[in-house]
Amino acid sequence: MPHHRKLSFGYSPGQQVLHDLSLDIGQGDFVGIVGHTGSGKSTLLSLMLRYYSSPQGSIEINGQALDSIDNEHFRADVGLVPQDPFLLAASARENIDMGRGLPQHEIEAAARAAHAHDFITDLEQGYETSLGEAGGRLSTGQKQLIAIARALAGKPRILLLDEATSHIDSQTEQIVQVALNELRGQVTIIAIAHRLSTIRDADRIVVLNHGRISESGSHDELMRIDGGLYQRLYLLQQLAV
Ligand SMILES: Nc1ncnc2c1ncn2[C@@H]1O[C@H](COP(=O)(O)OP(=O)(O)O)[C@@H](O)[C@H]1O
Ligand SMILES: [Mg+2]
Repeated sequence: MPHHRKLSFGYSPGQQVLHDLSLDIGQGDFVGIVGHTGSGKSTLLSLMLRYYSSPQGSIEINGQALDSIDNEHFRADVGLVPQDPFLLAASARENIDMGRGLPQHEIEAAARAAHAHDFITDLEQGYETSLGEAGGRLSTGQKQLIAIARALAGKPRILLLDEATSHIDSQTEQIVQVALNELRGQVTIIAIAHRLSTIRDADRIVVLNHGRISESGSHDELMRIDGGLYQRLYLLQQLAV
């Protein structure tokens, strides 16, 4: 929206990390955020999670300034999928429930949405199977699907992912892609992605460069910017495969 105050932020005075950002994120949008290491992606996410607040400008999602939401609602509104999720030495069900006391059908609905239901039911005791210390018996990708189910089980309006696919196998990465596309329209998705394939189908991809938005558009639009940062990052990753 045009009346937004642009957002700037630094961890210490005189060292700005984010400069004049303006992001208009609507209900149900799927937004990808990409950029080199150090460009400010995690900082932007920290602001979205309200770990920090900026005296200059604010972030609005679904038309509401994040800092105007009270704490209780905010916690319920936002689900986070981190890069390396921790698992409890507890059952699959407990790892999704996280003490919320949800009924089984809600646990299962979240697991289905995260495409975790099938591998969970394949475990010898299904949802009651203990995942062991740090989820030792699951693959990294499966742990990440549990983490997505866990976030979705809270029925967030906003789902934040911080490089959630960086360390998983490419098969699971494709499953995450499918899951995110299925959630489109139901949940506002903001996904920082090192692996560009994860956010290829996002409604909008925002490219951060030294704390500024340098490009913004769909994958196809950004690929048409010859010599653009997104195009270069994408072609580099194609080569790396
Ligand atoms: N907690 C912090 N305190 C001070 N500086 C930080 C902190 N976190 C990140 N930075 C700095 O902010 C800049 C952006 O970092 P970050 O947001 O982590 O980028 P990205 O996630 O894109 O790699 C970097 O220069 C980094 O060194
Ligand atoms: Mg980061």
